[in-house]
Amino acid sequence: MLIVQISDMHVSVPGKLFGRHIDSRASFERAITRVLALDPKPDLVVLSGDLAETGAGQEYDFIAAQIARLPCPALAIPGNHDLREEMLRKLPRNVQGQDGGHLSFAEDGFPLRVIGLDTIVPGEVHGEICEHRLAWLRGVLAKDSSKPAMIAMHHPPFTTGFVAMDNYGIKRGLGEFRAIIAEHAAKISAIVCGHVHRSIIGNLSGVPVVIAPATSFPFKLALGEKPSLRFIAEPPQFMVHKWSRDAGFVSHVAFVDEFPGPYPLS
Ligand SMILES: [Fe+2]
Repeated sequence: MLIVQISDMHVSVPGKLFGRHIDSRASFERAITRVLALDPKPDLVVLSGDLAETGAGQEYDFIAAQIARLPCPALAIPGNHDLREEMLRKLPRNVQGQDGGHLSFAEDGFPLRVIGLDTIVPGEVHGEICEHRLAWLRGVLAKDSSKPAMIAMHHPPFTTGFVAMDNYGIKRGLGEFRAIIAEHAAKISAIVCGHVHRSIIGNLSGVPVVIAPATSFPFKLALGEKPSLRFIAEPPQFMVHKWSRDAGFVSHVAFVDEFPGPYPLS
């Protein structure tokens, strides 16, 4: 099973460049073109939050048009820049509204279960996993123990060392979430996230946690004590996760843009 993960597209309204430098609309469009060129084609695309920059309807119209080009289903969870109401309105086939208003999803139609956990706090940059969502996740994981699962969430559940973004991490429900993961670690193949705009790998109770890079703008790597949040025009990227019963869960980073080559080895 191949899962493409596209994260933090920050699609803007037409004519607006992010930070006066980055055309996030064009970059997302190129990302979809690159996904279409993949061989073999993905079975599923997961959009792990910050689809839109301001949450305007026009931004989601563009996102919907791009998603419509995909050869497979796409499922989305919101990020801190997204508006749940607009996602429900404009992307009705790509989100699942749950009791309590969160847009978490559980997809059981593949050999690997794909679970999306909504971690946003409307109007805030940081994340949370409230009682509603903890109960929902416990219920989903209790329902089927025969299949392994991947969990997608926008805010990562571990401290990355990138202080500026760790300051905007999950501020409520993290201990309870970690306890759920520890309890079900044997059947969780991986947790995949966004939010930090860089490829980062961590671990929770032996479960690999992968933070996907952004198709919009990467933040400059800054691991010092002083928070630093500056974006840099490094190449936009996305992830291709491959799962098989024999090899388990393996993650690849792919570039949105084309580069010279490929050349024969000799
Ligand atoms: Fe983002």
